[in-house]
Amino acid sequence: MILSAKHLKKTYIDSDQKIEVLTDACLDVASGDMICITGKSGSGKSTMLHIMGLLDAPDSGELIIGGNKIQAQSPKAPMIRNRDLGFVFQFHYLVEDLTATENVALPLMIAGQSETKARARAQELLCILGLSERLRRYPNQLSGGEQQRVSLARALANSPKLVLADEPTGNLDPTHSKEVWDLILSLNKGEFKQTFVIVTHDVEAAQAADQIFELVNGILIPA
Ligand SMILES: Nc1ncnc2c1ncn2[C@@H]1O[C@H](COP(=O)(O)OP(=O)(O)OP(=O)(O)O)[C@@H](O)[C@H]1O
Ligand SMILES: [Mg+2]
Repeated sequence: MILSAKHLKKTYIDSDQKIEVLTDACLDVASGDMICITGKSGSGKSTMLHIMGLLDAPDSGELIIGGNKIQAQSPKAPMIRNRDLGFVFQFHYLVEDLTATENVALPLMIAGQSETKARARAQELLCILGLSERLRRYPNQLSGGEQQRVSLARALANSPKLVLADEPTGNLDPTHSKEVWDLILSLNKGEFKQTFVIVTHDVEAAQAADQIFELVNGILIPA
């Protein structure tokens, strides 16, 4: 398994109210998987993904990545986030004053690559994702779909074992949404065999996944 989430529990305290978001959430992700997580707004999908991505810590339960138990607070967590995991968010979170190439090169340079090599790899990825004409553009000079493709390229930069995507098409119109979904599918099915866990409220798009789970009452149920 690339990642196993075991019995995750997460409760938020909001003023004096206790919100039990995850009660006993379990998920196994194997290499090459394409897993979609659906569920109502507020059901805890983002919470689950953030915990899987070491961006947030559960109250209890375990996260095992590459066979090792790991906690979000661990000194090793930033390196695992940078090298083993890629993230795509609903809002792209690209750095506005960096070009498409520079945005994708950034995680490579953080991982220790030279600027020259990082730029070359960034350009290669952007070309694969159909953005060869957009390399020097800034995020605000790109369409929503293009911005999401750049953030997908950024997520793929360090050849992560797993890409976690939170509503990657949630902010796009149907045409751009389909474009990004098709790209994700081709990355999963094609030579990359990229493993994905994708949170989406788009139940129709989720049908393309090998496995679909619905988050209900803090538990992931096969849909
Ligand atoms: N930091 C926080 N403090 C308090 N409550 C929070 C916090 N983060 C999330 N919540 C609550 O936890 C619940 C789950 O939130 P989460 O963002 O995981 O839901 P979601 O399924 O991703 O929803 P959406 O589909 O709207 O994105 C919600 O009720 C939310 O209000
Ligand atoms: Mg969410």
